Amino acid sequence: MSKLSVVIGSTRPGRVGLPIGQWFFERALLHGKFEVQLVDLKEQNLPLLDEAKHPRLGEYEHEHTKAWSRLVQASDAFVFVTPEYNFSAPPALLNALDYVYHEWAYKAAGFVSYGGQSGGIRAVQMLKQPLISMKVVGIPEAVVIPFFSQFMNAGAFKPHESHDKMAVTMLDELVRWTEALAALRK
Ligand SMILES: Cc1cc2nc3c(=O)[nH]c(=O)nc-3n(C[C@H](O)[C@H](O)[C@H](O)COP(=O)(O)O)c2cc1C
Repeated sequence: MSKLSVVIGSTRPGRVGLPIGQWFFERALLHGKFEVQLVDLKEQNLPLLDEAKHPRLGEYEHEHTKAWSRLVQASDAFVFVTPEYNFSAPPALLNALDYVYHEWAYKAAGFVSYGGQSGGIRAVQMLKQPLISMKVVGIPEAVVIPFFSQFMNAGAFKPHESHDKMAVTMLDELVRWTEALAALRK
């Protein structure tokens, strides 16, 4: 079974990325077609990129980079759970992408985005730029959550049925891409 990492891209105290990420993680477990792990960038605790050598070389100095490298390498697919900050992607997530290079290649990625009216889609568009340079296929099917605060209750995310449907559609497509790209990952 392919390994899916659900990456929570916001790290600030009180972030809604955590409950939304937890909801999607549970949803992906129910879907049942991936071996799923929840990856919290707050726990990864990556500093601003502090490696002297270009990530393409894979000659990492720091243990936090080696651990992140192992995690990304061991994943076949990703779902990035992302807010939108000032019409862009959160810096913690962009930083985490930049840390390693070959480890991302020939893997597929889906997105769960949230925000106000935009539902975070501008962050997703921003994320696709670095991802494509690292040979990650960012798929079009996505979970988009505009006005997310309407779905928060006592710190938990209470999805609308449309969110669950979007999640299943995205996961179904992500399985197809992940299997199709397996030949390139060999
Ligand atoms: C620095 C900053 C910039 C923001 N910019 C946007 C924005 O461009 N679009 C939007 O929909 N929400 C924006 N917001 C509101 C976020 O949608 C909201 O704070 C959300 O909780 C952020 O996700 P997080 O809690 O997981 O960090 C911004 C919030 C912060 C902290």
